Amino acid sequence: MRRLALPLVFPLLLLLTAPTSACRAGAPEGSGPDTTGTAQRPVQASRGMVVAGHAEASRVGLAVLQEGGNAVDAAVAVGFALAVVLPNAGNVGGGGFLLARFPDGTATSLDFREAAPGAATADMFLGEDGEPVDGRSRLGHLAVGVPGTVAGLLEAHARWGRLPLAQLIEPAIRLAEGGYPLTRRDAHLLNYYREEFLAYPSTARYFTTSDAHPYAAGEAFTQRDLGAVLRRIRDDGRDGFYRGRTADLIVAEMRRGGGLITHADLEAYRAIERPVLVGRYRGNRVLTMGPPGTGGIALLQMLRAVEPYDLNELGINTPEATHLGGEAMRRAFADRARWLGDPGFVDVPTAGLTDSLYVRRRMATFRPDRTTPSATIEPGTPPPTPEGSETTHYSIVDEDGAVVAVTYTINDYFGAKVVVDGAGFFLNDEMDDFTAAPGRPNLWGLIQGENNAVRPGARPASSMTPTIIEDRQGRPVLVLGSPGGSRIITTVFQVVTDVLDCGIDVQTAVSLPRFHHQWMPDVLEVEPAFPDETRAALEALGWTVNEVSTFGAADAILIEYGANGRRRLYGGADPRRENDTALGY
Ligand code: DON
Repeated sequence: MRRLALPLVFPLLLLLTAPTSACRAGAPEGSGPDTTGTAQRPVQASRGMVVAGHAEASRVGLAVLQEGGNAVDAAVAVGFALAVVLPNAGNVGGGGFLLARFPDGTATSLDFREAAPGAATADMFLGEDGEPVDGRSRLGHLAVGVPGTVAGLLEAHARWGRLPLAQLIEPAIRLAEGGYPLTRRDAHLLNYYREEFLAYPSTARYFTTSDAHPYAAGEAFTQRDLGAVLRRIRDDGRDGFYRGRTADLIVAEMRRGGGLITHADLEAYRAIERPVLVGRYRGNRVLTMGPPGTGGIALLQMLRAVEPYDLNELGINTPEATHLGGEAMRRAFADRARWLGDPGFVDVPTAGLTDSLYVRRRMATFRPDRTTPSATIEPGTPPPTPEGSETTHYSIVDEDGAVVAVTYTINDYFGAKVVVDGAGFFLNDEMDDFTAAPGRPNLWGLIQGENNAVRPGARPASSMTPTIIEDRQGRPVLVLGSPGGSRIITTVFQVVTDVLDCGIDVQTAVSLPRFHHQWMPDVLEVEPAFPDETRAALEALGWTVNEVSTFGAADAILIEYGANGRRRLYGGADPRRENDTALGY
């Protein structure tokens, strides 16, 4: 562990465009059946690329790029296509974040996170005894926030798209009405959740087989009512969803199940363009999502915390690197719990939390030879802001150099498990991302604070972390993100450092076994393929190490620039979810 005591005064600046060395790996090549994926090579292309959570959707996005659409057009088309072919996560009934960097170097982000209905209250998930009612914020109609995806995709298209909207929605309509063959994973997920679906008549009608004969891979799956929802959006834009027949169907569904969303809530919903959160890491610029996203702040904090150390020397998944990373993670998540919420309702001290001196002070208690128990780590007090100053992710690069990262979600797999009758789509259970019950862990095990309390119209804090990295010449070199709840943030952190510090190829970077710590509970989670020797060394240091099933699904694109300025695109699709597919041309 000695090397950890010697932070480099001048961090090694690695030339991203010519990664030569690969970190010392803590795992033998190929260990673990489906989480190392070291045998897979990145998909390569030169003009455009889409890496998304389902091959059908990646194909839709690629076709849009080839037809002359830009990265935002492709993102809109992929978003609608995933709403059809990936009902566990893709959606029109949820929300998300879009991060875009345009060829002129400007960047922006769009917040289309779900909002709490007007009638929501801070204690709506507590029973008469003041205790949280099991499942109320996760299952059924009360768990549903006002959906933002349609507003977000349409807003992105109106501001930055190039092709007509109809052309971008048409493939999704075709997939919904004409059907698509279920993959093994699609069929497995639908069968796995059958019992929960049966609790809601509309969900049972659309997403279970009538005779208990399970769905099979290769079977054609059609969704006619969802096709009609998409047609109304194609024809009437946001009014085709937030008003009229679809809005009526959503409100009727809410009334049937005791949900809160009203016509007024739907009409009032707007996507919000927000400034991109920008930080630096070893001379690279990191563009990521600010509040109500929590991942951007935590990512910058963790990167700043490890920056004084030579990660290339420490290696990947070694005891030294995992100890350092875990300590950085627990401090970032302590701050997340205290400070993060909707910036429209509470003050989030973003600049202070990502200030390098502040993060360095937070790491002052770091000891290379022992753990710092989470019980002794309080959320920090950042300096005041200076004046003036089951989710799916997809990454897209177009021919002109525009880069888009979208993470959108209905929270849990298949959201609240409620399907809108007559419309055929799942509604989110995003209300669980609020502090549904103070002091109690949410679905992701996160303990959260007052800043993230349920307030009418507020958006719950989110771990979604779409991110774009620019190199020291200001060129976009990496675009990525992941699902995985709180584990999104630590997944993105590990892929970024593996690529930037170690020059690991992007497919290997998204495939390698990962670790995660979120302050509370004070447990370091490791994936099954995480090296045993590292686990043993960490336990000796005082870490409580728990093996968990694999998490996250990082879909990333690495952009390399040749001497003649020609670009090479490398796609990394996470093998943890076999539907994830990189396609380029
Ligand atoms: O926004 C959040 O933090 C969560 N609703 C994300 C959920 C998620 O990643 C589900 N994917 N496995």
